[in-house]
Formats: sequence, structure tokens, C-alpha cells
Amino acid sequence: MRPRHIGLLAGGALAVVLALVGFAALVSSRQSPTGTIVTGAASIGGPFALTRSDGRAVSERDFLGKPTAIFFGFTFCPEVCPTTLYELSGLIKELGPEADKLNFAFVSVDWGRDGPEELASYTSAFDSRIQGLSGTEAEIETVTRAYRVYYKRVPIEGGDYTIDHTASVYLMDQDGQFVGTLAYGEARDTMLEKLRRLVAGA
Ligand code: NI
Repeated sequence: MRPRHIGLLAGGALAVVLALVGFAALVSSRQSPTGTIVTGAASIGGPFALTRSDGRAVSERDFLGKPTAIFFGFTFCPEVCPTTLYELSGLIKELGPEADKLNFAFVSVDWGRDGPEELASYTSAFDSRIQGLSGTEAEIETVTRAYRVYYKRVPIEGGDYTIDHTASVYLMDQDGQFVGTLAYGEARDTMLEKLRRLVAGA
């Protein structure tokens, strides 16, 4: 397993900014030019084709019938992803049997480095109920557009790169409709309550 640090200072500030940018984009996308919230189906979510960590194909249809918590990131992520997956794994344990009424998915936007094997070992280090999904560049473009996820490669020292990305966990109902998010850094009790309400269909 590759080392990861869960430092909470410098990266934390960046993560908060990214979360706010992501959320602002999300909110603005739901507002009409006059500033009122558009009612009806929010255009977040939609068709996608990706690969599960066991190598099998998966689409949005495979998640219907149960609500879903879906998150976008990458396995080399130094902070936001490991922190979020750690939080999610704790929430899954706390939900107990209720957790089986939800799908949990982690989509890697790092089509250059993350494939099924990388995601299998990465997500199972947190909770095997979190499905790791990967795809080609085109497939990742499709799913990130559908979910309005921001991600951008940022070069780092040594010719390598990191990826800035939306930090929110998207909550979808059993029909694949967007119902809300878990924000990065949100109080644990609030996240737990949101997941319980998602299970209850409330
Ligand atoms: Ni990340």
C-alpha cells in the first residue's frame, strides 16, 4: 500500500476552498438567471459506463433501486480522498445493517494511473462496501460532466501530477435523482443524519 498522509493544515485550507468552489458551482448550476432555485429534477447525475474493481462493466442502472453515495477522487490524493473515505467507512460502520440499503461508490478521475486493481486495493483498505470505479479518459469526462464534478490535473515537482477535484459526496435517491451532498469537513452527526434520511427516503 502506498503511504498517504492525513495532514490537516495546509492541505485542509485548499480542500475547503475546493469544496466551496465545487459547492458554489453546484448551487449556481441550480439557479436561474434571476437567482431563484429551479424546481424539478436537478441536472446532476445521468448515464455513465465505468469499470468495477473486479473488472466488470458498471453503469448508472446498476445503482438504481437503492440510494447511492458517490464520490470522485483519485488514489494518489494526499488528503481529501483518504479523509473522506475514512469518514465514510466510519459512517458505514455506524449505520450498521442500514448501510446495506445504500450503494457507496468512489470514482477515480485519474484515468492515467487508476485502474480496477489500484481501486480494489485502495477502497478495500477503507471498507469493501465502497465500490471503486474507473474508466477511460472519455468515460471519466462523461461521468464528471453528468455529475458536474470539477477536476483538473496540476503538475508537481518531478514531472508528476496531482489532481484538484470536487470534494463533496453526492447523494442520489433510488431512482438516480440527486438529493444533496455531504460536504467535506461537515460535522459527522450531520453526515450520519443525511445518510439515515437517504436510507429512509425522507
Ligand atoms: Ni482527493
